[in-house]
Amino acid sequence: MNIDYNERIPNNVDLADDRRLLRALERWQPAYLKWWEEMGPVESQDMEVYLRTAISVQKDGWANFGHVRMPDYRWGIFLTPPEADRKINFGAHKGEAAWQTVPGEYRSELRRLIVTQGDTEPASVEQQRALGRSCPSLYDLRNLFQVNVEEGRHLWAMVYLLQAYFGRDGREEADEMLERHAGDPDRPRILQAFNEKTDDWLSFYMFTFFQDRDGKYQLASLAESGFDPLSRTCRFMLTEEAHHMFVGESGIMRVVQRSAELMREHDTTDIRPFGGIDLDTIQKFMNFHFSVCLDLFGQERSTNAANYYSMGLKGRFQETRIDDDHVLENAVYLAPELVDGKVISTETSALTAINERLRREYTVDSQRGVNRFNKVLEHFGIERKLTLPHEAFNRAIGAFRSVEATPTGDIIDGETWSRRRDEWLPSEADYAFVKSLMKPVTEPGKMAGWIAPPKRGIHGQPLDYDYVRFH
Ligand SMILES: [Fe+2]
Ligand SMILES: [Fe+2]
Repeated sequence: MNIDYNERIPNNVDLADDRRLLRALERWQPAYLKWWEEMGPVESQDMEVYLRTAISVQKDGWANFGHVRMPDYRWGIFLTPPEADRKINFGAHKGEAAWQTVPGEYRSELRRLIVTQGDTEPASVEQQRALGRSCPSLYDLRNLFQVNVEEGRHLWAMVYLLQAYFGRDGREEADEMLERHAGDPDRPRILQAFNEKTDDWLSFYMFTFFQDRDGKYQLASLAESGFDPLSRTCRFMLTEEAHHMFVGESGIMRVVQRSAELMREHDTTDIRPFGGIDLDTIQKFMNFHFSVCLDLFGQERSTNAANYYSMGLKGRFQETRIDDDHVLENAVYLAPELVDGKVISTETSALTAINERLRREYTVDSQRGVNRFNKVLEHFGIERKLTLPHEAFNRAIGAFRSVEATPTGDIIDGETWSRRRDEWLPSEADYAFVKSLMKPVTEPGKMAGWIAPPKRGIHGQPLDYDYVRFH
């Protein structure tokens, strides 16, 4: 199933045959391009970037690499091919044919799920928009832009669903996607993690490691949806998400490696004077990003999540591989609770604990990456380990929202928290230090001093390739 690039909006959904939808999308397209120009990567309109573009939705469909100006990137609508006779695989409608149109009784819930997901996509582009000014290398600059154009495409994916299946209110929601902005006090993005600043590269790697991984788990759950167009859209988005997480994981790994090298070379943990990012600072950034991402999964016990599941709108991670009845009326799951100042696990209905289960899976996946960072430290003979903070740490949603806790999960009073906060989360001084290292390096093959070079270039190109051309 190839994508037609002769169309103004490349797509594999026969857009040309649906005049109404085509008109709606063509009306939205200039607004999107204006948004990209105003809120997308700064000073980048004329740069030529070595980007990959999807030419088909098959496994080998990523073969297309070449220099393009980002405003000319072929944003479009790509769904994985339909699965014959696909069924709804969970919830009250289990076994029925998957929906090809919006189930009327669940219309507003479905719309809310799509809007919430869609809102994160342009938000991350906005959060990252100034990073290009301080790139550690051309290789990294190109990766940033690749992530940005794909988040833009993810917005297209959600806007397509809204405009194709939700009529007038879908079109209004599509417009509002471009009107809310990350960190805007009057019209912020829907989820708090997407209003935080991402204006240094350590934050960017943390973001693509933690926030994009949340994206993976949300998309994977939506890919199970009984609403087939949503499922097919998310399946294709997941192939793009994998690259974003690669950028995050390899980015943090390279920072850790450089820090370890400097620690060895100068025989000290205090590597700031030598232009490196010390492990304490890396740990604090990790504490921040992981804890705000745990909030993205919502309450540990959630009737909304239970409803989405029973309605067949949003499943569990790899739903069909789970060995149970996929209805969960009588099943239980352990969820954390705060009792008398102590964190305990209590049995709760598996239906209401859907969020908690997803969060648990996300944590295991995050830990796998952290273990790889620790391997790097081990390799350099450094005993110190990086860790994920306890789930009670720095939370604004769920069972721990009204208490303060240390990164190891001890509940503490507000006074202790205020006194010790800067030991655990990046302080203004930490941000200022990290930002002081963010000097642009744009000579092909050169690398900023606070990060190790990557193992290899993009798509077989050498490290000193001109991944971005300035004009
Ligand atoms: Fe995305
Ligand atoms: Fe992403």
